Amino acid sequence: MRLYWRVLHYLKPYRGLAVASVLIIAATAMASLLTPWPLKILVDNALGGAPPPRIVVMILGPLAGDRAAVLALAVAGGLFIAFFNNLMHVLENYVNTKLNLSMGLDFRSDLFRHSQRLSMAFHDRRRSGMLIYQISYQCDAASGLIMAVPPLATNALTLFGMFAVIYLIDPKLALLSVSIVPLLYYSTRYYVKHIQPQIVRVKGFEAETLSVIHEAISMIRVIAAFGREDHEYRRYRAQGTQAVDERVRLTVRQTLFSLAVNMTTACGTALVLGYGAYHALKGRLTVGELLVILSYVAAVYKPLEAISQTVGSLQDQIVSLRLTLELLDTIPEVSDPPGARVSGRALGQVAFEGVQFRYADRVDTLKEIDFEVVPGQRVALVGPTGAGKTTLISLILRFYDPTHGRILLDGEDIRSLTLESLRKQVSLVLQEPLLFSDTIANNIRYGRLDATMDEIIDAAKAANAHQFICKLPDGYDTVVGERGAKLSGGERQRISVARAFLKNAPILLLDEPTSSIDSRTEAVILDALDRLMEGRTTFLVAHRLSTIRSVDTILVMDQGRVVGQGSHESLLHTCPLYRQLYELQSAPQRQPA
Ligand SMILES: Nc1ncnc2c1ncn2[C@@H]1O[C@H](COP(=O)(O)OP(=O)(O)OP(=O)(O)O)[C@@H](O)[C@H]1O
Ligand SMILES: [Mg+2]
Repeated sequence: MRLYWRVLHYLKPYRGLAVASVLIIAATAMASLLTPWPLKILVDNALGGAPPPRIVVMILGPLAGDRAAVLALAVAGGLFIAFFNNLMHVLENYVNTKLNLSMGLDFRSDLFRHSQRLSMAFHDRRRSGMLIYQISYQCDAASGLIMAVPPLATNALTLFGMFAVIYLIDPKLALLSVSIVPLLYYSTRYYVKHIQPQIVRVKGFEAETLSVIHEAISMIRVIAAFGREDHEYRRYRAQGTQAVDERVRLTVRQTLFSLAVNMTTACGTALVLGYGAYHALKGRLTVGELLVILSYVAAVYKPLEAISQTVGSLQDQIVSLRLTLELLDTIPEVSDPPGARVSGRALGQVAFEGVQFRYADRVDTLKEIDFEVVPGQRVALVGPTGAGKTTLISLILRFYDPTHGRILLDGEDIRSLTLESLRKQVSLVLQEPLLFSDTIANNIRYGRLDATMDEIIDAAKAANAHQFICKLPDGYDTVVGERGAKLSGGERQRISVARAFLKNAPILLLDEPTSSIDSRTEAVILDALDRLMEGRTTFLVAHRLSTIRSVDTILVMDQGRVVGQGSHESLLHTCPLYRQLYELQSAPQRQPA
């Protein structure tokens, strides 16, 4: 029930449509009551010659005595009702479809927005296929549940009405006919309780199947390179077969439940029939009366059956709704604290104070990190793989929060700023730049959505990208393919540098921006990066020490600690790890090629 209140909130913007839907249902019900009347008038009054009812006299006036006129009216009336019925049907279809889909879209949009706000730690845990399944497939449960209410209500009303009529005719029989209600109630409850866990399982399998497709398609190059298409196909089949088997098992159970409901009502009918026939035998009831009662009992059982069936079939949606609401209720681990401040443009002073961090199920990813960087300073982060360099810079963006200690921006804890204003201060350029499947211009514009074309071109020029973009057949309108697949790594990298130029943030995070690029392109990109670093506090992660000559200070990291800090020359003397890295990298160059 609590679930219901939460989804009802999605009905609010569509109050008008909801009212229209109820009105249409009422009109349809009225029309179905009227349906038999033209036929009755045709048979009794036009053909049989009985005096026409008052409504006919009212419509026809003096012509009411003319049987041909009554006949024409009856036929016209029948036609009109049929027309009205169909019109209502069309309207109902339109209103309900619109209502259902609009509510579904609102709910899905909320879920989409929420899942984007969930922290990186959440996304590390969840497979994206699962999220896609929840956002695109399970969300319809919310609107589906709301749309199930009108038929349920109609059935409930019919049930009460029919019961009242039978009670007036024969109270004992009426009570006897509802004696199966408790049985239905308990069997439905039993069913609901036992079916739900099974539905959760089936949905898990189905989501997993989707995850397999999603992963395979995003890894298509790896799959093709290793010739593992058949392997992936088998993996998909195995997963799919399991999902199908589970779904079939579930359907069998659902059908058995329907069977139980139908058998119960059949027993009820038999009970009433036997009891009534016995009364008829004793002469207390005429056969005609018995027939009337039986037809009414059938009329009571129909809505009763329908209600049980609906409650049964709604379980799927209830489970979906519960799962999606769980996602919607997941609190982002990284979020704005109460009273978070919106900051203007920062100067760019960054300090780590006793920062410790560990990923879930890991230990000591970062230990006691302490350093301070003045505005505009360029800092290089070097160290062996797995030392924690990427982790350190992702803490500045609050992709994760430190477990101990704090990070200060211009002397203030970054957790006291809103996430949005913090992230406005920072540009990130990744080792493997990711682009959207859009035009080059739009990909650059991602840095600042209101940038003009001139600004975009300036940014591209500053990033040494303008030349290669102009050589492309469509220039800035070239569509780059998913994740930028139609461009080379170096081209992609320059576009992401242009994006950072456009964003013009005071802090710059560069995570090995040139490590996957040949040395000639590297020189071009380093040149662009030099320009980009101008006047910004920069953290540059680099494996190749040759790329960090122009920095002010170097932080050497090892196993989550800062083991040395200073200039290249001083580190060569004070930091054995740095000297080792340096010697390793310069050694091959001394040998003749
Ligand atoms: N999302 C994650 N969840 C759990 N552990 C992680 C995650 N990302 C990184 N790690 C672990 O944290 C440690 C530090 O990783 P990090 O990516 O910061 O290293 P790095 O210094 O950037 O290495 P590289 O030079 O190879 O890029 C590694 O041991 C890694 O296995
Ligand atoms: Mg890294």
